[in-house]
Amino acid sequence: RLSSTKDLLADAERGGYAVGAFNVYNLEGVEAVIAAAEEKKSPAILQIHPSALKQGGTPLVACCISAAEQATVPITVHFDHGSVKQELMEVLELGVNSVMVDGSHLPFKENISYTKYISSLAHAKGMTVEAELGRLSGTEDDLTVEDYEAKLTDVNQAQEFIDETGIDALAVCIGNVHGKYPASGPQLRLELLRNLYELASKSGVFLVLHGASGLPKELVQECIELGVRKFNVNTEVRKAYMDSLKTPQTDLVHVIAAAKEAMKAVVAEKLDLFGSTGKA
Ligand code: G3H
Ligand code: 13P
Ligand code: ZN
Ligand code: NA
Repeated sequence: RLSSTKDLLADAERGGYAVGAFNVYNLEGVEAVIAAAEEKKSPAILQIHPSALKQGGTPLVACCISAAEQATVPITVHFDHGSVKQELMEVLELGVNSVMVDGSHLPFKENISYTKYISSLAHAKGMTVEAELGRLSGTEDDLTVEDYEAKLTDVNQAQEFIDETGIDALAVCIGNVHGKYPASGPQLRLELLRNLYELASKSGVFLVLHGASGLPKELVQECIELGVRKFNVNTEVRKAYMDSLKTPQTDLVHVIAAAKEAMKAVVAEKLDLFGSTGKA
């Protein structure tokens, strides 16, 4: 059933687990996430990146909403990385359950005013709002230590950001990256996460971790213990899909079914890992 993203996160907070938000690009992706959530009796979030929206348009959003409505488990539809104001204004009309206001490319004060503005419009429509503080990027091996540190979420700024913007969820930058992690493995600042959780939870704000693809099991579990309630997963599901498409098989229906199954397997494994299995 179509649910509220805030409710899913609040349930996860009470239960001490996290909800998976999976980037979807087409019907197969949507069905894969729902099938895994149904099988695992788990809540899940269907997440649409601006590039996916550009490709799939309003039919993709309608597909997500309709699939969520028909599901027996709680599902929500979320707009990911809304860094362009005009795009967000359009998305607010589409009836998604939540949006990420991504002002992380802006200077701190501008990020606040951008997030605050969109947040008030989204809240007026009953939507849940996520925003990012700090600057998350792709794997960057060539950053100086100072540049790297400057991109992490600052605890003092986080308090002001939460107070000023009225957001429901905060995407943190603690060394997490989109896509692959360096061969040496992820270096997450767990002490920073602990401090961010302490202040966010006092304000009733839920923590989100982008870039969950490539995080080892133990680290995911530690992050949940330290308060992460939403993990964004894109690369691993997309890779399973694309690898599956590299088949000599020529029966299109078979190719589609196999690709869907490949994505479903990754999602199901993540739901177990996030601890949301059985929580629907
Ligand atoms: O969050 C941003 C997009 O989902 C890109 O993710 O690292 O898998 O390209 P990616
Ligand atoms: P990954 O591609 O690393 O899973 O990150 C996904 C993400 O953060 C989407 O917003
Ligand atoms: Zn992201
Ligand atoms: Na990642």
